[in-house]
Amino acid sequence: MSDSTQAALSNLMHEQRHFDPPEELARHANVSADVYDEADRDPVAFWGKQAERLTWAEPFTDVLDWSNPPFAKWYVGGKLNAAYNCVDRHVEAGNGDRVAFHWVGEPEGDTRDLTYAELKDEVCRAANALVELGVQTGDRVAIYMPMIPETVVAMLACARIGAPHTVVFGGFSSQALVDRIQDCDARVVITADGGYRRGAPASLKPAVDEAVERCPDVRSVLVVRRTGQDVAWTEGRDVWWHDAVGGQSTEHTPEAFDSEHPLYVMYTSGTTGKPKGILHTTGGYLVGTSYTHWAVFDLKPETDVFWTAADIGWVTGHSYIVYGPLANGTTSVMYEGTPDTPHKGRWWEIISQYKVNILYCAPTAIRTFMKWGKEIPEKSDLSSLRLLGSVGEPINPEAWIWYREVIGGGHCPVVDTWWQTETGQLMISPLPGVTSSKPGSAMKALPGISAVVVDDVGKPVSKGEGGYLTLTQPWPAMLRTIWGDDQRYRDTYWSRFEGVYFAGDGAKLDEEGDIWLLGRVDDVMNVSGHRLSTTEIESALVSHPKVAEAAVVGAKDEDTGQAVCAFVILRESAGDGGQDIVEELRAHVAKEIGKIARPRQIMVVPELPKTRSGKIMRRLLKDVAEEREVGDVTTLADSTVMDLISENLKDSGSDED
Ligand code: PRX
Repeated sequence: MSDSTQAALSNLMHEQRHFDPPEELARHANVSADVYDEADRDPVAFWGKQAERLTWAEPFTDVLDWSNPPFAKWYVGGKLNAAYNCVDRHVEAGNGDRVAFHWVGEPEGDTRDLTYAELKDEVCRAANALVELGVQTGDRVAIYMPMIPETVVAMLACARIGAPHTVVFGGFSSQALVDRIQDCDARVVITADGGYRRGAPASLKPAVDEAVERCPDVRSVLVVRRTGQDVAWTEGRDVWWHDAVGGQSTEHTPEAFDSEHPLYVMYTSGTTGKPKGILHTTGGYLVGTSYTHWAVFDLKPETDVFWTAADIGWVTGHSYIVYGPLANGTTSVMYEGTPDTPHKGRWWEIISQYKVNILYCAPTAIRTFMKWGKEIPEKSDLSSLRLLGSVGEPINPEAWIWYREVIGGGHCPVVDTWWQTETGQLMISPLPGVTSSKPGSAMKALPGISAVVVDDVGKPVSKGEGGYLTLTQPWPAMLRTIWGDDQRYRDTYWSRFEGVYFAGDGAKLDEEGDIWLLGRVDDVMNVSGHRLSTTEIESALVSHPKVAEAAVVGAKDEDTGQAVCAFVILRESAGDGGQDIVEELRAHVAKEIGKIARPRQIMVVPELPKTRSGKIMRRLLKDVAEEREVGDVTTLADSTVMDLISENLKDSGSDED
């Protein structure tokens, strides 16, 4: 970056400058400033009005039933079909020819445009195929797929017949797949032979085969042919997608389900080893995602091309590639592969080719692009962009400004959107035509959302102070429970502060009362915008026969936000573990959870720092991992442990592939 740009950037950062909404955008924005007051006056009525966005087969009688907190019911008595709302009604309204997805495969030239009419036909065929495979309303279906149109079709087909899906990110291991299939008792798995990543086919079916061996209740595996790789085949269980779906009728009458009918379960990491199945239901989720997609991205379905550059296997993909955008009749881009295949300008070429107007991605991607240099995006015409979004982790002001200046040409507003798997929808974000923004701040709660930062005892903090982020009123797309574990739902979210939702994030209010997110306050890490649990990785490490004890911390990382750093004590029988112990353990974690959880660094140590009551002091390990002077050790049971650790570090940095 030139010196003058550099100087301009640092001035902007230090001035704490506000960026006001661009006049043109403000003039034509979907929402105006009075929406905040309107929603404040009567949040329930506000959400009642937003429900008019959807097509209801039967109207609801009450907007919200909060008589039995924390178990909410939204749009009580209403009936609707999610797939009908995402697809059919747009065709019926005469928009069948509109492109729903410009799909871009990773191999160059491998593209497909799918109109709403085509999507409707495919969803109907797939729904008929699922019914033929014996899937009934209420049955769970696991989906383990690459980023291809059939993944969206599979999700919508499940929604159409009222069979909640659980999409498992394709980067998770077969063990992770087993845990999820078993937890929600899925009987059918939809997968593909593989997908393209980093210039080569990556397989998926073998992981499903291995998983299903341990899930005897799975009776069918539906397999999309994507890469043409050889796959093992179990007759009677495995069915090719093109055989089962291809010949079906394109007619399928959607049934209307109760507003609270389960739509999907998405597993996410918590503070214990066992991932939590976050349950989302139909009506409230669709209202919450479609309203926020329309308001925060100022979405104009007739003209905009929208791109959420995330994987469908995460909530960002569910809410802002699939349900929100489709409910709004949006034309989206969907890209299968990595940003640097076959070269580092791939995203910018896609934006220029499809004239993308709105880009939504994670700070970790932005930091990577910054490292690669602005010369790369500058080679492409990015003038179609008019709005930029960020999600998944705190965005540092430098990345925010780079995003706005280099990618947004200095004229696109940046909306930093805070939300979670559990919230289902965006919760804290500027409204680009209304709210001014500050680099690094998610600004304020969206209309109809009540976010309060509180201190240790639950008292709201004053301007200029920090604390914990809570949500004090229910919202439509909120999780309804943890699948099969109401008590864990209560304990995890509603018990830390009585009667309000505890998000697990630290936050501070600036002097103007705007919110700055500070990262997790629990044992959850955020690596490249992916949520990982320290405890889950520790459990994976101690399940290795050579490991006696393990402690994992998330250490600051310039590129990925945080990186997984593990400290392990080996069993005596393992000796020093041998030359390759670090690689062996990294591979073990990849096998147990998935490559995304593989520690960047594993340090073999003789002891772990513990308090007198035996609790590991991760704070001190974090100091070591972040190469800082070790903090206060006075509460350690043995204060010499940290010296011992420093002397004995058998380090093991390892670069990601
Ligand atoms: O710590 C917050 C962080 O990501 C967590 C939620 O992760 P997940 O459920 O995987 O959902 C990610 C995509 C919605 C939050 O608890 N997070 C998400 N968005 C932001 C954020 N932290 C700061 N700023 C954000 N904009």
